Amino acid sequence: MSRREHWEGVYSSKPPDRLGWYKPRLQTSLEWIKTLGLEPDAAIIDVGGGACTLIDDLLDEGYTSITVLDIAEPALALLKERLGDKSAAVNWVCGDITKVELPENAFALWHDRAVFHFLIERTDQERYRDNLCRALRPGGRLIIGTFAPEAPPKCSGLPVQRYDLELLRETLGSEFELQRHQEEMHVTPGGVEQMYLYCDFRFAP
Ligand SMILES: C[S@@+](CC[C@H](N)C(=O)[O-])C[C@H]1O[C@@H](n2cnc3c(N)ncnc32)[C@H](O)[C@@H]1O
Repeated sequence: MSRREHWEGVYSSKPPDRLGWYKPRLQTSLEWIKTLGLEPDAAIIDVGGGACTLIDDLLDEGYTSITVLDIAEPALALLKERLGDKSAAVNWVCGDITKVELPENAFALWHDRAVFHFLIERTDQERYRDNLCRALRPGGRLIIGTFAPEAPPKCSGLPVQRYDLELLRETLGSEFELQRHQEEMHVTPGGVEQMYLYCDFRFAP
């Protein structure tokens, strides 16, 4: 089964609030983004955004230049439906982050919760990094949440790469300067505990 088929199947199997990574609000992401002092029209991309509520919250906060990228069309369709008329204000990209070509120096903020950790092959991690380094503006921010070492080795039936701070810094490269980090426990709707490592990096190429 291809990566796209896997994720499309996942979104067709359960309502979004029963999926393992579901949180009613991505509080850490939202709080951290609000402290960055971004202009309302700063370009923000949520990579593997799925159907999560971060986009609803960012629109409510007044951000006007939001891109959501996801490999699974059903995830984007769920989010579009929930946003209704507001969905017209969002730029939608359906694609695999290891394959799409994003525009250069396009974004002030790249957000990723629970996507990068699914890339377990070095070549995929490098393709992700290539896209990240091309599309993020110098001085831009990367807010990323991955499974921490204490988390289970799989998520959504797929193996994941779990990261401690050292491994994440090494994998992303020295152009990414750590600004803050924290571990955060997530409990899935089925009651499974998943420890996340959340990091905020400044891109200094
Ligand atoms: C675990 S979910 C997290 C969703 C959302 N970020 C959140 O925190 O609620 C992973 C998401 O990434 C998407 N995804 C997985 N691999 C991807 C890839 N290679 N490129 C783009 N999206 C991907 C999936 O379709 C899914 O929506």
